[in-house]
Amino acid sequence: TDSTESAAGLLAWYDRHRRALPWRALPGEAPDPYRVWLSEIMLQQTTVTAVKPYYERFLARFPTVEALAQAPQDAVMQAWAGLGYYSRARNLHACAKMVVAVHGGRFPAEEKALLALPGIGAYTAGAIAAIAFDKVAVAVDGNVERVMSRLHAVTEPLPGAKPLIRELTLAMVPQRRPGDFAQALMDLGATICTPKKPACVLCPLALPCRARAEGTAETFPRKEAK
Ligand code: ADE
Repeated sequence: TDSTESAAGLLAWYDRHRRALPWRALPGEAPDPYRVWLSEIMLQQTTVTAVKPYYERFLARFPTVEALAQAPQDAVMQAWAGLGYYSRARNLHACAKMVVAVHGGRFPAEEKALLALPGIGAYTAGAIAAIAFDKVAVAVDGNVERVMSRLHAVTEPLPGAKPLIRELTLAMVPQRRPGDFAQALMDLGATICTPKKPACVLCPLALPCRARAEGTAETFPRKEAK
């Protein structure tokens, strides 16, 4: 099975099983880059369940990047309180100010321009480019590393395998719907291709999955011995 077929199978699965999350646009609707950015920053070190109420409250308080940029720092920190990793909140505020001052209040669509903004690293730049702008880009987090290392039975341990996994993921991104593809990989890792007891019988990538064929899914991703 080639990567085009695998990607198509994953997208078909996503169409049936996509999680309704507050930061996701409805199918056929354009996503709001501000909301995509905010959700990705919140989700970096925090679970989907924990993020949901914070995300809703934060968005009600600061509905646009302009509103966030104009807010006093202490109001932003107060809205963030409880989420932890407070450097994220300081970077968030600085990023909003820069989007307004440098980009006229619109998030740039290019990964390179996104990477130049405070608090935006490779993961977040890829996530925003793909999800908000439907660019061919990858957002490789722990879930995606697990899915891709199993699909290709990547024996090289993390963290050394990161560049290879990134390349394997990029090679699979379809020209159509790269944003849905990125989120489908995240959902697959969160709900089916779990660290323990993955639900391979329900997986849209079961056929091409090399680890599944070997019966070794749970042993991936391999980790460097500590
Ligand atoms: N984790 C990080 N980003 C996510 C997203 N956009 N959807 C679901 N889970 C995520």
